[in-house]
Amino acid sequence: MNTISPPELIIPESNLDRDCTTLSRHVLQSLKSFSPDAYDLSAIMSRIALAGKLISRRLSRAGLMEDVLGFTGETNIQGESVKKMDTYANEVFISVFKQSGLVCRLASEEMDKPYYIPENCPIGRYTLLYDPIDGSSNVDINLNVGSIFAIRQQEGEDLDGEATDLLQNGSKQIAAGYILYGPATVLVYTMGNGVHSFFLDPSLGEFILAQENIKIPDHGSVYSVNEGNFWQWNDSFRNYIRYVHRQEGYTGRYSGALVGDIHRILMQGGVFLYPGTTDQPQGKLRLLYETAPLAFIIEQAGGKASDGINPILDIIPSKIHYRTPAILGSKNEVELVESFIEK
Ligand code: AHG
Ligand code: MN
Ligand code: MN
Repeated sequence: MNTISPPELIIPESNLDRDCTTLSRHVLQSLKSFSPDAYDLSAIMSRIALAGKLISRRLSRAGLMEDVLGFTGETNIQGESVKKMDTYANEVFISVFKQSGLVCRLASEEMDKPYYIPENCPIGRYTLLYDPIDGSSNVDINLNVGSIFAIRQQEGEDLDGEATDLLQNGSKQIAAGYILYGPATVLVYTMGNGVHSFFLDPSLGEFILAQENIKIPDHGSVYSVNEGNFWQWNDSFRNYIRYVHRQEGYTGRYSGALVGDIHRILMQGGVFLYPGTTDQPQGKLRLLYETAPLAFIIEQAGGKASDGINPILDIIPSKIHYRTPAILGSKNEVELVESFIEK
């Protein structure tokens, strides 16, 4: 009997499969589940992706439009001057989650207290924590910026509206990631099962899988830190930097935007540092929507994330906008920094 063999594909099946692996499909695949919870997480990631597309679109046109660049004239809870893009991006995340039934609360760098979406609260038990635009000093000069996010499950009823259940360590993060707005827009996420990256294909309007199970090299030549703060550091960090200056094989890279600096280190190895200073002993970076999500990514990729003494993922914040010193990157490079710190 004659058997009919399938026609040979001109484009290898694997290339097409990858082109069809969108972010939401990947989330379902990686959770290995079609349960309601898996669908909710997939839907949340799709909404985050939509926020990323909206922000990416506005950034790419910022120089051509009125009223997109520059400051609003206001100061946020952090005491920092707010940029118009900070406000826009903050509102984008709120808008994409309205009437989604997915997220009851959003906590952001730009808001004093969490924002509640009451119509979602009866069923949406998730909270989104986010830094809408990270590295906003880069916005006006058309350099890379990012968004950082984490998803946590709401615990308890939060009747007083204080969201105190968010004041727990980083192991409570169900998912975390960032969107890097560079020459291309890239989304990187983890749900505790490896780190995966997606590129925005503008012609499709979809984030398409680029790399699965990214692993950070154990060593790297890059050290990324604002050395202008040297005079404000304690001796541990000064001694580490003095050591680096006297060694062959190190190269300094610092963009002023954490997401871009971390992305470089995730892909190529190295270490990012934001130590405490005399003005700000806890440093500048905030735990819940900056360092904890990035620590989750870095650890899932096989790297290390520390405040100098403790793993960042173990830190319990005392308030939503709690700050922490940060050393993130290749395992051996983070341990080298730690070796200079007196316990
Ligand atoms: P944001 O724009 O969200 O306030 O964050 C800026 C952060 C981070 O992106 C960057 O690594 C760091 O601040 C830069 O701070 P310095 O200018 O003090 O180096
Ligand atoms: Mn930031
Ligand atoms: Mn920010």
